[in-house]
Amino acid sequence: NETLRDAAARRGIFVGSAINYWDLQKDAAYARLAAAQYNLGTAENSCKFAATEGQPGSFNVSDCTSVLNFAHEHGMTFRAHNLIWGRSNPDWLVNGSYSPANLSTLEGTHIQHVVADVGKRPYCWDVVNEAIADDSDNSSTLFKAADPWYPAVEDYVYKAFAEAHAAAPSSIKLFYNDYGAEGTGAKASRVIQLVKNLQQKNIRIDGIGLQMHVSTGYYPSFDSVSANIKALGDLGLEVHITEMDVKCPTCNTTQGLEQQAAIYGGMLKACLDNDNCRSFETWGFTDKYTWLDQDTYPLPFDKNLQPKPAVAELLSILQTY
Ligand code: G3I
Repeated sequence: NETLRDAAARRGIFVGSAINYWDLQKDAAYARLAAAQYNLGTAENSCKFAATEGQPGSFNVSDCTSVLNFAHEHGMTFRAHNLIWGRSNPDWLVNGSYSPANLSTLEGTHIQHVVADVGKRPYCWDVVNEAIADDSDNSSTLFKAADPWYPAVEDYVYKAFAEAHAAAPSSIKLFYNDYGAEGTGAKASRVIQLVKNLQQKNIRIDGIGLQMHVSTGYYPSFDSVSANIKALGDLGLEVHITEMDVKCPTCNTTQGLEQQAAIYGGMLKACLDNDNCRSFETWGFTDKYTWLDQDTYPLPFDKNLQPKPAVAELLSILQTY
């Protein structure tokens, strides 16, 4: 029957997945399934700081563009992820004990080179990933406390977007991407504050990535996700569901699989309810390769690359909702 990507294309949205460079090389069935079912892809790790500037001033985007080329060879749009994050930084940066000013310069240089080297083909870049304070931080400030080597402090996040704005052609959308801000709430409000601050500073931000790492035990209500997507749309922002997975310890049972399918489907509907939601992506697509514990069966295809009920649910919603 119809693939996810064909049904999504008819709706004019992207349905995508993170794609792992190494798995792509070694597993032809994995590569075939990605190309068959998805019209958008993201390199799971190959476009991150540690992968693209392994040594100071030495830039190598070949693994990143290898995944981009795979996507384009199969008519898939490419989401580039990410330029600045508190993790996946090379040892020379983490251990370099740079001053905030020097770090800011280093990270600006990183952005300029990587955006230029990867070129014009990404649909968007996640310029900054996971810099905003969590609800648990009980933080009065907008951003996470800065690590000594990662200035997730106010001025640097804005500078990262300003650098990306200067480096990227206007055809590449600039996104902020985070977890735990999918439904309305304290962290989602901080994301909206970041957007307003950037807009007030006339620094370009085009979209917000809602990661959507959830579980059958906890997930934001579909209504609160839809309301949050709408609130971002009211600010002119495009929204992508960027990294959905649904940890499901009971998915060795039919009931668990049905519950997981309903969560995937509810979040897709929350996206489809809002014209500014343009992409629905999972963080990997098969339990064979997941960053999570394989015994939580988090993804739409099982470890044998067979579709779980979640796939039929997503397809049915794309076709009929
Ligand atoms: O490539 C190095 C290898 O050279 C080294 O020998 C080895 C041992 O240290 O590490 C390898 O890097 C690993 C990298 O994945 C590539 O496989 C890192 O240890 C490992 O921490 C890293 O994990 C990734 C994680 O982000 C951190 O970058 C996961 O695969 C990836 O799924 C996860 O994805 C993140 C998103 O980018 C942002 N949102 C949350 C999501 C889940 O954490």
